[in-house]
Amino acid sequence: MAGVEAGYFVRALELRSGAELRIKQCDAGDVGCVVWDAALVLAKYLETSSFYRDGLHTFTGKSVVELGSGTGLVGLMAAVLGGESVKDLPPAPDYILVADCIYYEQSLEPLLRTMKELAGKNTCIICCYEERTMGNNPEIEIRFLKLLQADFEIEEIPLDKHDEEYKSEDIHILQIKRKQDH
Ligand SMILES: C[S@@+](CC[C@H](N)C(=O)[O-])C[C@H]1O[C@@H](n2cnc3c(N)ncnc32)[C@H](O)[C@@H]1O
Repeated sequence: MAGVEAGYFVRALELRSGAELRIKQCDAGDVGCVVWDAALVLAKYLETSSFYRDGLHTFTGKSVVELGSGTGLVGLMAAVLGGESVKDLPPAPDYILVADCIYYEQSLEPLLRTMKELAGKNTCIICCYEERTMGNNPEIEIRFLKLLQADFEIEEIPLDKHDEEYKSEDIHILQIKRKQDH
């Protein structure tokens, strides 16, 4: 069958250039082995003209860190779009990208702490998450946003600015910046 090898499933994401990003997704493994829908939505959003609106955003020559990368699709897209590949974690990177990392209680505090320690006053954090209705997921999302608001300004990117094909009512993209007085 096309795209299937023993133990792997190849996820191919077509880029605007016509090239493909191909990720080998394991048949078995933990959450980090899967390309999650939020990663696809965020990766394709980074290619849209809305992201580059008025020349506000570009990855060319910028330092980009992906948190909770799993298979790394979003970071790979940033590299394709010109993001700098760095060996050491840069302080106050230009961009921090986060896909599908808000889903369990124990991850909230470490994720927030990492964002606070890493983000400088000009860092742009782009966080994409899937709204889930299972268990206490709704409360976790609300709690995360509330905690985040203490130190960061949050702007939700409207659905009509997402990629035309890779978008969904239940997948949200947030642009987050440190409050300037923090
Ligand atoms: C649902 S997966 C999303 C993976 C990838 N971003 C994507 O969207 O395809 C969540 C990822 O966050 C990582 N993660 C969650 N909590 C973490 C923590 N406290 N420290 C480091 N990584 C964490 C998991 O290992 C996993 O790779």
